[in-house]
Amino acid sequence: MNDFVIRGDIAYCPTKEQLIAVEDGFLVVRGGLCELVCTELPQSAQGLPVHDHRGKLVLPGMADLHIHAPQYAYRGLGADMELLDWLEHYAFREEAKYADLSYADRAYTIFADALKNSATTRAVIFGTIHTDATRLLMDKMEESGLVSYVGKVNMDRNSPEALTETTEGSFRETVRLIRETADRYRSTRPIITPRFVPSCTDELLSRLGRLAEKEALPVQSHLSENPGEIAWVKELCPDSRFYGEVYDRSGLFGGSIPTVMAHCVYSSDEEIALMKERGVTVAHCPASNMNVASGIAPIRRYLDLDLRVGLGSDVAGGHTVSLFTAMAEAMQLSRMYWRHLDSTKKPLTFSEALYMATKGGGGFFGKVGSFEPGYECDAVVIDDSTLPHPQELTLLQRVERAVWLGGDRTGLSAKYVRGQKIL
Ligand code: GUN
Ligand code: FE
Repeated sequence: MNDFVIRGDIAYCPTKEQLIAVEDGFLVVRGGLCELVCTELPQSAQGLPVHDHRGKLVLPGMADLHIHAPQYAYRGLGADMELLDWLEHYAFREEAKYADLSYADRAYTIFADALKNSATTRAVIFGTIHTDATRLLMDKMEESGLVSYVGKVNMDRNSPEALTETTEGSFRETVRLIRETADRYRSTRPIITPRFVPSCTDELLSRLGRLAEKEALPVQSHLSENPGEIAWVKELCPDSRFYGEVYDRSGLFGGSIPTVMAHCVYSSDEEIALMKERGVTVAHCPASNMNVASGIAPIRRYLDLDLRVGLGSDVAGGHTVSLFTAMAEAMQLSRMYWRHLDSTKKPLTFSEALYMATKGGGGFFGKVGSFEPGYECDAVVIDDSTLPHPQELTLLQRVERAVWLGGDRTGLSAKYVRGQKIL
């Protein structure tokens, strides 16, 4: 059985407010699940193999709830336009290349390798419209050892010719991907992925909604990200009261269908109420909010309303896969929100940021993102001696500093996913 003990300086957030830190602690893992965090091993765990990470930080693995694999190739380029122009000039031109499987192979090898060597253990991923390239991406994600949902993107209107499918073709290819990957993987699953309302007809959305229900598959898309985008949705769907209602009419907005919506920067009161009612998960993507100048998502409000909220890198709206960076940016943006937009919305605390990156986003995958008993053991080990300091620091200070200083880049020294050591 997969029973062992991880020894190190352990920290995790069982709630938004609570950051537990255990210096030189033990995390007992049985059958891939967390059993106990303690400072002295009980009799029953004595004899188990110990993975000795003394002096290093042991944190829950991070869940990236929103990332575009084909956009990784141009991350760090072209953050000089707003969403709709940015899609046309950068995203769509790059994504069209994935019709070529040899290009997809090279690009997705680099992408999967980057995610493997980050603090991310779970990811919800957009591919492109191309079924075979998306299956290749799924193969590579499976090899990486991470757990992921990967979507073949659906687009049947308002898109460049190379990325415009017929309604029937888009649906059929989605079914083909589901069929072809049904028994192929342990850790990789398809997810229904209408790109966003402007690129999907009502008919396609409804067929995808019925498919999600029939196949018991989750859904991912974009929601209320940018003012120009929202105005366009109003024009395209004049009889909908708000953007999210268009998804909801097609059965693509939570309820029995686990759904993650990226951004939610400008969600109206009604939209927020429906997200809450349907249990829709918000993927907050702070780097993307800034880089494509979308605006600042009201995350304090979502947390206060007890919405489900996790973090997303949104590469390449975001420029890095690092969820440590996303945490720091989420905190920074919340300070700007408080200062410039609404002084009643308190800035995010460190523990809230860590919670969102771990248990908040992990919730989309089940009992994931914490070291509480019964949680799947996803963990990252960070060697923060790569960030030297002359003064004494408490464990909490070390964790906070490792996040702000990008310790996931300098010091990732081991990684566990569902109790398997993959790095
Ligand atoms: N909305 C529709 N497509 C995209 C995309 O690729 N990135 C972002 N950030 N928003 C989108
Ligand atoms: Fe996105």
